[in-house]
Amino acid sequence: MTRAAVAASYGGSDVIEIVERELPEPSEGEVSIAVKAIGVNPFDYKSYSGAFGTDESKLPIALGSEASGIVVAVGGAAEGPVGPIAVGDEVIVSGHTGTYAETILAPARFVFPKPAELNWNVAAGVLAAAGTAYDAIESVGVERGDTVLVHGAAGGVGSVVAQLAVARGATVIGTARAQNHDALRAYGAEPVEYGDGLIDRVRAAAPNGIDAAIDAVGTDEAVDVSLELLTDRAKLVTMAAFGRASADGFLTVGGPESMKRRRLASPSLLEQAGAGVFEVTVAKTFPLADAARAHTELQSTHPRGKFVLVP
Ligand SMILES: NC(=O)c1ccc[n+]([C@@H]2O[C@H](COP(=O)([O-])OP(=O)(O)OC[C@H]3O[C@@H](n4cnc5c(N)ncnc54)[C@H](OP(=O)(O)O)[C@@H]3O)[C@@H](O)[C@H]2O)c1
Repeated sequence: MTRAAVAASYGGSDVIEIVERELPEPSEGEVSIAVKAIGVNPFDYKSYSGAFGTDESKLPIALGSEASGIVVAVGGAAEGPVGPIAVGDEVIVSGHTGTYAETILAPARFVFPKPAELNWNVAAGVLAAAGTAYDAIESVGVERGDTVLVHGAAGGVGSVVAQLAVARGATVIGTARAQNHDALRAYGAEPVEYGDGLIDRVRAAAPNGIDAAIDAVGTDEAVDVSLELLTDRAKLVTMAAFGRASADGFLTVGGPESMKRRRLASPSLLEQAGAGVFEVTVAKTFPLADAARAHTELQSTHPRGKFVLVP
């Protein structure tokens, strides 16, 4: 048996319940992992908020897509993306649904070795942010010498977008509220405050214009400013404003192609995280039993960095 957090119905974070679940032995190619820490992402609360529909047949909804932990059982010859997986391995699970649990069963293809340099909490939250960031950067083809506008550059994903783009040799203008500006400067980005007058502040920061824009927020302001400043809308990508993207004809990330690109890039992204090319900040940890509180706080405050649940 294992304890897990699930959404029992659609609604606010009060729909989250802690349940006891049977945990079968791993079948061929699966691994059981004793979870040490779980990364929290906005997708987790969007899965039951109604943002993606309210199909009753999907209830209860298993929550979470990433975690870190220790392999406790292996089914047959389990081969992960970077090699065989054995009992006792310290690993990261990413892209597998249902990580809000004490123990999880996951296909080996979602299991990666944990870089020794990352602690359990950081390891739990690194891949969703880094994979999405890399995907967005690739989709608009950021190159050395480009000037890139990053909306939400202090957020879980946006902060990694900013760092990876700087590492590529781009100049990054990042939007954030004032108290996060020093953090953006530390990443090598130039901060501007979002809100009224954003377009003038970006023009002042990038007098020669911008070559690409990456929206890690999804507001109309982020989209409108980007479209106004870019000459080519194929250089705008969003990870949140899907309605605007289909209405205005610009790129999104998050579909099957994105997932493939992220999976392929994961080993290299973990290597880069271990080597300190970019960092993921953990803003706060909560016990797994307080998953509902974590979701409420994530939606009502703007933490700089990731929330992590600890079983
Ligand atoms: N499509 C995909 O595959 C995919 C994958 C991952 C995430 N996402 C989506 O991407 C978005 C960001 O995810 P995340 O994990 O980075 O979330 P997050 O850590 O909560 O970061 C969001 C950031 O947005 C900033 N923000 C809030 N209100 C803003 C506004 N009005 N204008 C500009 N910035 C504002 C905040 O920065 P300040 O603190 O500076 O205010 C906050 O740090 C979410 O909508 C998430 O669902 C999509």
